[in-house]
Amino acid sequence: MLSQHRSRIQKNLRISEKAALTNLMDTAGISPETRHAGVKRAVDVINRIRTSSKPTMMESFLAEYGLSTSEGVALMCLAEALLRVPDAETIDELITDKIASSEWGTHLGHSSSPLVNASTWALLFTGKVLNEEQDNSLFKTLRGAVRRLGEPAIRVAVKQVMRELGQQFVLGESIEGGMKRAKKREGEGYTYSYDMLGEAACTEKEARAYHLAYADAIGAIGQASQGEDIRTNPGISIKLSALHPRYEQLQKQQVMDELVPRARSLAIMAKSAGIGLNIDAEEADRLSISLDVVEALLRDPSLKGWDGFGVVVQAYGKRAPFVLDWLYQLATDLDRKIMVRLVKGAYWDTEIKHAQTEGLNGFPVFTRKPSTDVSYICCAKKLLGMTDRIYPQFATHNAHSAAMILEMADDISTFEFQRLHGMGEALHEVLVKTGGARCRIYAPVGSHKDLLAYLVRRLLENGANSSFVNQIVDESVSAEEVAQDPFEIVAKYLDAPENPHIAQPSEIYGKDRKNSQGWDIYDPLTLTTMRKQITKHTRSAAEGKPGGSTLPVQNPATGEVIAYVETMEKAAIKKTVDGLAPWSGADAAARAKVLRKVADLYEKHAFEIFATLGREAGKNLSDCVGELREAVDFLRYYALQAEIKNPEPQGVFACISPWNFPLAIFTGQISAAL
Ligand code: FAD
Ligand code: 2OP
Repeated sequence: MLSQHRSRIQKNLRISEKAALTNLMDTAGISPETRHAGVKRAVDVINRIRTSSKPTMMESFLAEYGLSTSEGVALMCLAEALLRVPDAETIDELITDKIASSEWGTHLGHSSSPLVNASTWALLFTGKVLNEEQDNSLFKTLRGAVRRLGEPAIRVAVKQVMRELGQQFVLGESIEGGMKRAKKREGEGYTYSYDMLGEAACTEKEARAYHLAYADAIGAIGQASQGEDIRTNPGISIKLSALHPRYEQLQKQQVMDELVPRARSLAIMAKSAGIGLNIDAEEADRLSISLDVVEALLRDPSLKGWDGFGVVVQAYGKRAPFVLDWLYQLATDLDRKIMVRLVKGAYWDTEIKHAQTEGLNGFPVFTRKPSTDVSYICCAKKLLGMTDRIYPQFATHNAHSAAMILEMADDISTFEFQRLHGMGEALHEVLVKTGGARCRIYAPVGSHKDLLAYLVRRLLENGANSSFVNQIVDESVSAEEVAQDPFEIVAKYLDAPENPHIAQPSEIYGKDRKNSQGWDIYDPLTLTTMRKQITKHTRSAAEGKPGGSTLPVQNPATGEVIAYVETMEKAAIKKTVDGLAPWSGADAAARAKVLRKVADLYEKHAFEIFATLGREAGKNLSDCVGELREAVDFLRYYALQAEIKNPEPQGVFACISPWNFPLAIFTGQISAAL
């Protein structure tokens, strides 16, 4: 049974959005009356929020500089880049580039927040001062002065602004500081889930440091928590990518041998402390391996009897309902109770770009926002029917999603709401104070240097004009519009739910050039097929024979001799060149056709090519895929160039391909020449 659920998860990785949405809506069985009541309740909540509270500085800032303005994008780039640019000179150039080229003046006085207007003044001034195009002598003088004396000052100021921006989302630099700051809200009935900033460890040293930081935090949280009830105690959220530098499907054995014990040690500590521990959901690529880790931990006898083990499920993923079924079955089989935090998902932009650049066969996530909203609500309904085994934690800042949960739930004590620190404060005030709901705040703790990835996700989330948090501060959008029923919107596009503004992975270069096909090496099903096929095509004996004028070719990874190649004398080369049949007569269309045919054949024979690349250049799977795709892209690119430019023939070309790109560089040079 469990394995059937697992295979359903795998099969639904990239199913069509229509199939995914139809399944969700058909099985959830949410009545039109409930939906109607949900909208009504949401409108009421939105009106209450708008009349009773003022948006935070952050909300105003991002409403003014949303990602639909070029200034917003510039700020986003700046925030993202400033945290990782190492030297002052580059920072100054970046500031000039991002700030000087934008239309800051158009934002002046727009915002109702004086602080945002002050920031605009600062940015406008900096922009004017730095703008090379300004030919006003006063500005010239000023600019000269700032250039000479003041740019470091601007650098410090801009860095400080970005730091302030970041601090809106972080509770404290240390767990002690964070817990102290949490006291106020705890006094108002909120609980916390602390998150130690840091993820995607690149080295073992980094992973060990994050492990220790989590352990320290659990110790401190445990000391401060009272009672045994994980629902009322504070908890911790961890990211598995922080615990191991090779947390990926391809390194499954290493993950099970090395990451699982680290995660187990933290879970045992959390159990002893009587607190909950949530495993955050990260990129879709990591879902499958994360479920292996979750299963290993849940099966661990030392964690039996503890109800505080939590898993996060992302509703924007097409696999979400099947993951919930699997978790419920696992908890039932093991006679355990677990927590499940339902989120929409924070990596949407990454997922779309990743699938596109990797040339994958579709997206693992929905491509229209209302589809994700519908998925969230249907998954919430499913969870509300699983409360004998699962304690649902509904993490959302969206008044409509929260209102629907309240409409669908029979007993408010069986679940909790969650929000992120620095977001959704007003909504959760309403949920706690007037709805009597339990609410937990996810609170990042850590230093500025570990903030980057988290901050970028928050800026994307707050800056997107489709986000609830962005819409609620924009009073030109009516409460009815903000609270629109996503089921109604989805019904209108259900026949073609794929977002027409998002290019499918095969189409990112437009209609005239197909993107090269990719292979999802993080999908266990694809991976098994690839490994099987490559083994089938891998030769065991060396090609050719030693002796005479042959040279051995070695696999650089293993030293194994894989072939003996004939060297050529000058005369033989001349004979070959003289014997070449020119194709100058073939027109551009005919040449393009040949190049495209080669590209298609490369893809058709991919597994043979991967097998050869593995032996000849010692390439691992992802390098094999990368090399083949580069070769195919070259062929299709030059085919199109031939058609566009129809260049004159240039004569005979030879290519000496480098050992580490035996196919791609050879193909690139030769196809360009052809
Ligand atoms: P809404 O504005 O209603 O929804 C925004 C979301 O819609 C986006 O984040 C995205 O998921 C989705 N979306 C946006 N555009 C599109 C589109 N074109 N097509 C399809 N979908 C789209 N996220 C994680 O990934 N892992 C975690 O472990 C995690 N933990 C969290 C813990 C807490 C307590 C909270 C509150 C959030 C957590 N999040 C996590 C972040 C969460 O995913 C986002 O905050 C959430 O998606 C925002 O949804 P919303 O209902 O608040 O807002
Ligand atoms: C994130 O790190 C909150 O887990 C979520 O974006």
